[in-house]
Amino acid sequence: MDDLRIDALFDAAKKARANAYAPYSGFAVGAAVLSESGAVFAGCNVENAAFPVGFCAEAGAVAAMVAAGGKRVAAALVLGGGETLCMPCGACRQRLREFGDEATPVIVAGQQGVRRRFSLGELLPESFGPDALGRADG
Ligand code: THU
Repeated sequence: MDDLRIDALFDAAKKARANAYAPYSGFAVGAAVLSESGAVFAGCNVENAAFPVGFCAEAGAVAAMVAAGGKRVAAALVLGGGETLCMPCGACRQRLREFGDEATPVIVAGQQGVRRRFSLGELLPESFGPDALGRADG
């Protein structure tokens, strides 16, 4: 994963985070995914007065990729504030798994830059994915 692509993901996630709608948690998150064609798609968390209806930044980024015709997540970056690493939640690990595989890089960033790199396999070992349902491209 070259630095230029990481920079593009970081910049997109940072811009999206600036638009996060997080009045209840006060915890703004931005995310960006790189598709198989090299395009970058970003999302932010969008909360809701009916709390469970809110969704994560990663969900928005994945949805934007799919809506634009992207088929695979080649890499993902999540950007949150605070001292503790902003790790993708369990549901978002599964969302990334749908379009990625165990080698897919998942980069965790803070406002100053990249903090840690993981593979999706590290974050979601022994996962259930499209292959389990007979989808060869899973
Ligand atoms: N959140 C994300 O958007 N992505 C993550 O990876 C972790 C959590 C959001 C959900 C909620 O709006 C807020 O952060 C606090 O949980």
